Amino acid sequence: MSNLMLFAVFPYVATILAVLVGIYRYFSDRYSYSSQSSQFLENRVLFWGSVPWHYGIITILLVHIVAAIVPGAWGQLLGVPWRLAALEVTGFAVAVFTLLGLALLIIRRLSTSRIHAVTTGLDWVLLAALLVQVGLGCWIALFYRWGGAWYVQTAAPWLVSLVTLHPQVDTVTALPGIVKLHLLGGFLIVALFPFTRLVHLVTFPVTYLWRPHQVVVWNRRPGTTAAFGGRPGAK
Ligand code: HEM
Repeated sequence: MSNLMLFAVFPYVATILAVLVGIYRYFSDRYSYSSQSSQFLENRVLFWGSVPWHYGIITILLVHIVAAIVPGAWGQLLGVPWRLAALEVTGFAVAVFTLLGLALLIIRRLSTSRIHAVTTGLDWVLLAALLVQVGLGCWIALFYRWGGAWYVQTAAPWLVSLVTLHPQVDTVTALPGIVKLHLLGGFLIVALFPFTRLVHLVTFPVTYLWRPHQVVVWNRRPGTTAAFGGRPGAK
């Protein structure tokens, strides 16, 4: 019963919440639909945290999705031992790279007073959830080897069964507790999506491809740039 609640009901509740509240927020408070960039308050640490974090997390998410969509091709690709080993090593390296980026972003929010001042309680909840989720991913990669192979037999069919509205929980209920926590963590983050700055995931600026370019002119009247150390964007 509890397995059904956790692995069949909870994922749908999280997804429905994400879609409905996401749509509501978009139409009722469109200005908040953004990553709420803090680049003007601090730029240097943001660069070193945000670049590894974003390249890493997007790569990891894509691999999870592709392996679930084409499990046959994925299984064939990893059917040769050296390829499986190469994926394990690369995957772990990317996960650590991602975790370090996120750790830097969190340290930046804790240690820079201006960033700390604009960080909300929900920002902390989101960052903590992401930290635990990526941390668990690293842990699994390290202690539950060959995830690239067993993922297609366990989590992938479960995800496909959820998408096709025929939830089958048997393939995931026998997994170790840490792995189950990682699966549920994914849907917890889906549930947090509409309440946090994570909404920026669906605000990819595609219109930039065709909109006219923007001219930015700095107004450097005496005193106006002092807050930025005399240079806009500087620490
Ligand atoms: C679709 C591709 C993505 C784009 C274009 C994007 C873009 C951005 C931008 C512009 C920022 C603001 C950085 C700043 O303060 O100036 C940001 C922050 C952030 N992004 Fe993304 N992002 C993407 C995907 C993701 C994904 C997949 C996740 C996590 C699942 C994520 C999580 C975050 C978090 C947690 C922050 C806040 C970091 C902080 O300031 O502490 N992003 N993103």
